[in-house]
Amino acid sequence: MKVKTKTKKTKIVVVTGTPGTGKTTLAKKLSKFLNYELITYKNIISKKKLFESYDEERKCKIVDVKKLNKHVLELIKKANNETVEGIIIDSHLSHYFPKNSVGMCVVTKCKLKTLQGRLKKRRYNAKKVRENLDCEIFDVCLTEAEEKGHKCMLVDTSTRYNTKTIASKIIKNLKTPGLRGNYKKV
Ligand SMILES: Nc1ncnc2c1ncn2[C@@H]1O[C@H](COP(=O)(O)OP(=O)(O)O)[C@@H](O)[C@H]1O
Ligand SMILES: [Mg+2]
Repeated sequence: MKVKTKTKKTKIVVVTGTPGTGKTTLAKKLSKFLNYELITYKNIISKKKLFESYDEERKCKIVDVKKLNKHVLELIKKANNETVEGIIIDSHLSHYFPKNSVGMCVVTKCKLKTLQGRLKKRRYNAKKVRENLDCEIFDVCLTEAEEKGHKCMLVDTSTRYNTKTIASKIIKNLKTPGLRGNYKKV
């Protein structure tokens, strides 16, 4: 007899924000603290060739977001929900992930002077620094995330923060849905 057993949903937290505002740093810390798996789009995009073309001027890949979301959804659905409590997605494209699956959208922000310093340190050219500063000034990631209907939480990374406090806040405010994997056959 096939019996459907109730499986726990894997909680999904996305971390978005302007490049240089501290997504990767925060996502790694949260993943360790919460014992959630970490998915970094940057690695997946290159490995799975989920880009349409390369923008020579901006020195970046033009990503096929539809393909990317589909691929990541498949990855998560395959995860064993009994053991994978949660997943953190680190990317400035993570807020494009379907809102019904996302429990919390964390948006990293920092002071413009701080961001400028971080981007220069990365040796971004003047135009790219300017574009990213504008992106931060206009709150592009936050605005898009809100427009997509995500529950958003801001984290200022201009100075040191307490990962434990942020993690607790996320857990407390998580929207319940996550993703359910395949039903287990008994
Ligand atoms: N809270 C913080 N305090 C000081 N420096 C930080 C903080 N968060 C991030 N940084 C630094 O800022 C730079 C960019 O951070 P990173 O996490 O790579 O950003 P992103 O993934 O958004 O591009 C790194 O050099 C990192 O060490
Ligand atoms: Mg990063």
